Amino acid sequence: MTPILRDGFGRHIDYLRISVTDRCNFRCRYCMPAEGLDWLPKAEILSYEEIAEVVRQLAQLGLRKVRISGGEPTLRPELHKLVGMIRDVRGIEDISLSTNGVRLAAVARLLKESGLDRINMSADSLRPDRIHAISRRRLPFDPVAAATAAEDAGLGPIKINMVVMRGINDDEIADFARLTVDRPWHVRFIELMPVGEMRDVTWDHVVPSDEIIARLAEVGRLSAVSGPERGNGPARYFAFSGARGTVGVITPMTHTYCETCNRVRLTADGKLRTCLFGDQETDLRTLLRAGMSLEPAVRAALVTKPAAHQLLQMNVGGLRALSQVGG
Ligand code: 5AD
Ligand code: SF4
Repeated sequence: MTPILRDGFGRHIDYLRISVTDRCNFRCRYCMPAEGLDWLPKAEILSYEEIAEVVRQLAQLGLRKVRISGGEPTLRPELHKLVGMIRDVRGIEDISLSTNGVRLAAVARLLKESGLDRINMSADSLRPDRIHAISRRRLPFDPVAAATAAEDAGLGPIKINMVVMRGINDDEIADFARLTVDRPWHVRFIELMPVGEMRDVTWDHVVPSDEIIARLAEVGRLSAVSGPERGNGPARYFAFSGARGTVGVITPMTHTYCETCNRVRLTADGKLRTCLFGDQETDLRTLLRAGMSLEPAVRAALVTKPAAHQLLQMNVGGLRALSQVGG
């Protein structure tokens, strides 16, 4: 039997996040400059067949879970075809999608029918004027309607990710939290990471998770729960008494969860990144296009996977926007 993928610290790697495009229809203030980024030329972006080949080769080495992300993945034409191709790979147990939700109601059913298991949706406000101000795009997006459409299509458990920004949307923590009382939704509050090329958000906008949890406790009695995650998720979860869903915090700024990290990332142009932060990248596209095995390069890359990220030290080498590396 081929040995499973382990990194230099013995962590078992069975989760791949795949960025299918670096483009987005939003320009979230914490993610991208208003004018956008220098988008990758088409020829540099992996085809669906190439992405599926990466998944096939890694599945033979123990890959079990795949998340499709971006940029905004639903902008890539016929995304359901990629989902179907990944679904056909033996060994893959879980396929999820991270989306900004704008196109979710339109594509949820087709994605489900093609084999998608579940979604994570970003939503930083429930108020149309504020969604517009944060995303800097005037697109019709109703987070509750989008999440409902995904749930109705069978894409649960529904996770909603809100990036909390002091003075920008932190007054909506309670409104988001209350969504979890009547609906079996999992709202996760994410600490803002003031990284990349951003002028509008700074360390002053970071709300530490302890403060988020204290504010949640003002909404109702909270107990710690295990949450919806099957594997090693980075969130800590709580529930209000009698609630159908949960609230959680994801804490890149105040706590690391690197010890149990089980993931690597594939960028839209075919580079394997072993850590979200830092600049270790391995070009898989050249190997793919030459018809070669990826295994030696993947194993070599894993040896360099860092023990922990350096975000707290603000050593975020080379990172311009999370949208470029698949979030
Ligand atoms: N800080 C925190 N989260 C971010 N994301 C992107 N940029 C940042 C950032 N600077 C994450 C959020 C968002 C998803 C698309 O990527 O979770 O919802
Ligand atoms: Fe797009 Fe997500 Fe970045 Fe917002 S955070 S601009 S939705 S990729």
